[in-house]
Amino acid sequence: MLVLGIESTCDETAAAIVEDGSKVLSNVIFSQAELHNQFKGVIPELACRKHLDVIIPVIDQALKEAGCTLDDIDVIAAARGPGLIGALLIGLNTAKALALALQKPFVGVNHLEGHLYASMMPKMPQNFPCLGVILSGGHTALVHVEAIRKYRILATTVDDAIGEAFDKVASLLDLPYPGGPFIENLAKDGNPYKYSFKAGQVKKNPLDFSFSGLKTSVMYAIKGQNALKDAPSNLSEIEKKDIAASFQRTAFSDIVNKTLLATDHHSYHGLIFGGGVCGNQALKKMFEEAFPNTPQFWPALGMASDNAAMIAGLAYHQFLLQNQQDSFFLKALPKIPNLI
Ligand code: KG4
Ligand code: ZN
Repeated sequence: MLVLGIESTCDETAAAIVEDGSKVLSNVIFSQAELHNQFKGVIPELACRKHLDVIIPVIDQALKEAGCTLDDIDVIAAARGPGLIGALLIGLNTAKALALALQKPFVGVNHLEGHLYASMMPKMPQNFPCLGVILSGGHTALVHVEAIRKYRILATTVDDAIGEAFDKVASLLDLPYPGGPFIENLAKDGNPYKYSFKAGQVKKNPLDFSFSGLKTSVMYAIKGQNALKDAPSNLSEIEKKDIAASFQRTAFSDIVNKTLLATDHHSYHGLIFGGGVCGNQALKKMFEEAFPNTPQFWPALGMASDNAAMIAGLAYHQFLLQNQQDSFFLKALPKIPNLI
């Protein structure tokens, strides 16, 4: 079964063709990073207009690379949220319009569930439950995964998402947007113990995350205690590297520690990682050291950040579970409190 997936939740316009939920025939991603870089973050209205410009060429390219036409497609799917409402509407309505015109089924997919599915696509965990670790630009969550489509959120962030914290620290260090990969790169040559930053602890739920205080202490380290937020920094290259390394170690140690705590409460057969931050190799190394005997499912290259292959792959399973098939009345949702 061939599924055309469409993704437009934030600043990537993507389309992919996936066969039977796991064979990726094409995975086309148009990144708007250059457009938003000048503003050091995503401008929703600009994102929306750019999605409109490129969505049809991106779909055409995905069909071309997969060597098929719209007639060959069995199901059309799109991310329905969470994300920027204007951006979501472009992908969702394009998918619905195509499905309606071609008389094909339409499936709406949760973007975050898609991120977790991306890591299960090449090889499903043999046993459940597993613990899902979602680390993206807009979300940070620990998720009890009973099976595909069966989730319980254990923890979220009470303020910034982890990717957002990376992007804000990158901006303070005058690095381009999105800043995650630039911080990772800078951190490679820095001393991760030079600065003693701290991630936040949340009394109400010890598994919850809080990164806004960490980001503020990085700001003070960069600009001094009394500095205005937009005052220029005068850091040497080595100071920048040490700050990047110390920030990254602090943030990732917090995520590893809270994952360890979650696995103390419950025994899990594997860890499933999803979201753009999971492309970070230092993070992967820390988890491999902390959980040497636990099977770990990481996104393949190009599958950590936003893409449509994860949407098409997951839509295949949703379509097979007939009772979970979605209708054309499905709305775009900027926020979705749980994963489905
Ligand atoms: O999952 P994603 O592509 O979009 C959302 O759903 O939000 O995640 C984007 C986020 C950005 O904040 C970006 O800076 C971060 O993922 N990111 C990274 C790395 N690559 C992307 N953060 C840390 N290290 C990386 N290598
Ligand atoms: Zn995402």
